[in-house]
Amino acid sequence: MSVLSTELINEIRSSVNIVDVVSSYLPLIKRGKNYFGLCPFHNDKNPSMSVSPERQIYTCFSCGATGNVFNFIMDYENVSFVEAVKMVADKAGISINIGQAKPSFNKNSELYEIYEISQKFYQNNINTADGKKAKEYLLKRGITDDIIKDFGIGLSLKKNDLLTNLLMKKNYSPNSLLKSGLIVKNEYGYNDIYYNRIMFPLWDLNGRIVGYSGRVYEDEDSSKYINTRETEIFKKGEILYNYHRAKEECRIKQSVIVMEGFMDVIRAYTIGVKNVVATMGTAVTKSQAMLLKKMAKDIILCFDSDDAGYKAVINCSEELNKVGITPKVVILDDELDPDDYIKKFGKELFIRKIENPINLIDFKLNYLKKGLDLTNSEEFAGYINNVIKELAKIEDEILRELTLNKLSEEAKIDITILRNRLAHFNLEKDVSVKQEIKKEKPIKIDKYVKAEQNLLYYMLHSKEVIKIYNKKITFMPTEKYRLLAKEISYFYKKYNYIDIADFLSMINDSPNLIKTAGEIMSLDLKEDYTIDEINDYIEVIKEYNIKSEINRLKEKMRLEVDPIKKAELAQKIVKLKVEGEIND
Ligand code: UTP
Ligand code: MN
Repeated sequence: MSVLSTELINEIRSSVNIVDVVSSYLPLIKRGKNYFGLCPFHNDKNPSMSVSPERQIYTCFSCGATGNVFNFIMDYENVSFVEAVKMVADKAGISINIGQAKPSFNKNSELYEIYEISQKFYQNNINTADGKKAKEYLLKRGITDDIIKDFGIGLSLKKNDLLTNLLMKKNYSPNSLLKSGLIVKNEYGYNDIYYNRIMFPLWDLNGRIVGYSGRVYEDEDSSKYINTRETEIFKKGEILYNYHRAKEECRIKQSVIVMEGFMDVIRAYTIGVKNVVATMGTAVTKSQAMLLKKMAKDIILCFDSDDAGYKAVINCSEELNKVGITPKVVILDDELDPDDYIKKFGKELFIRKIENPINLIDFKLNYLKKGLDLTNSEEFAGYINNVIKELAKIEDEILRELTLNKLSEEAKIDITILRNRLAHFNLEKDVSVKQEIKKEKPIKIDKYVKAEQNLLYYMLHSKEVIKIYNKKITFMPTEKYRLLAKEISYFYKKYNYIDIADFLSMINDSPNLIKTAGEIMSLDLKEDYTIDEINDYIEVIKEYNIKSEINRLKEKMRLEVDPIKKAELAQKIVKLKVEGEIND
């Protein structure tokens, strides 16, 4: 980030209005001083995100998402801070040159380097004589040299110390090597974990390699794929295979196709279907669901068309439902996965499939029928009940009515009976929602916590308050508030002013600080303050600190055996009590 000075960052930030930027992503309505919209960072039903033109920040009252224009873009587009700054600069017509800028990856930079080096190494291997068999295997699967290059596919060779030696020669510490998940230490010393496997790099959301999946290609006995274990920078549940490459295409097409396997994605990509990502065989997580939601309006599940795949569709759709999305589904013939389907039926038929996905409810109707004997009345009744349970989850009235009609015709049951049954389910649902709301109890906030919060609130708004805070050297008892106070104080010392939006830029790489700042900013406090009030907050905090110190000394005194030292401690306690005007 070195090429971007704070001054330039602030200039870029203040050259756009956050209201304009946010409203280019989602509709905002003006209410009072602020603008409101549906928060894109959680499943928002009523507009709970407010955007303040005055403070140039956004805050979601429901999920707590907060920040300035850069934070919004970082979270919405899943880009780094530097990229967000660049995007805003583009919008504002300010030209900055960050082409050369190598963002500092701080403590994980060695890991990223190791994956880069290993990828070059693996890719080189596949083009040597030793890689002939692997290449043949890939070619047989229709994976050409171009695709190999595009997807960075490589090969680990039979000898299991080649990568270890290469990296050791480059002086990487054994610690980093082990951390990377590519190397293991056993009784024979350090060795490569991957040998004789085709290596598929896995990327994070920004397109940096953070791990591998290695596939067997000769010895079909051992497990098909071995994935790099998770590290600080590689969390399988937070990435989607091919995300960084598909992102733009998804936005243009307004749809994202989700597959299970990365071989499926690679195949689809080669026939020109580029808005595809893969979950890589695990259940879809909440963060993947949120990610998909941000990628495009339409989400199309194109999973393997076998039992496991159907189950995955159900599970995935439930996770997507939680973030407010109902996906569509593609069913492929002959129980195939997308890769095999495309090979067997060809590009045109596949494209026709994905252009005509079926509704989730229709998929469920079929799925719920599977394996049942519908001539058996009991099984048939059970089936109808299950369908109605599913219908109760649908918010689209028309779709619900259409499906109800379909079911009534299929089952030859009067539609009013079905409708009554549906009403009954909806009733149950309402009751459980109400009970959940009841459970939430307001939390009692301690007096000193309130004082810390209020003090921070005004520190974020006024340099006068920061100065008072600095002079009286208050030590905030709560760690997260203490850290925030320290940063605010630092910002002021360095730049000699305070501005919330600029302050947020400074703390951009610390999500915890941003969260705490958001918590403070969304307090419902009056705008102006009096010096007396500020002093009161400080007194409350001081009193708390003195009391804690007294308690600490009392405990020390209790454990002290030396009578002289005991007396000294007692004196200290008395002194503190006098100082703090505490009389208990
Ligand atoms: P599949 O078993 O459907 O693999 O697993 P595939 O995509 O058809 O692969 P090929 O065609 O046999 O080469 C789907 C995904 O599950 C993960 C992988 O990410 C794979 O892409 N997986 C599968 C593993 O992680 N380990 C395994 O042993 C198998
Ligand atoms: Mn396959």
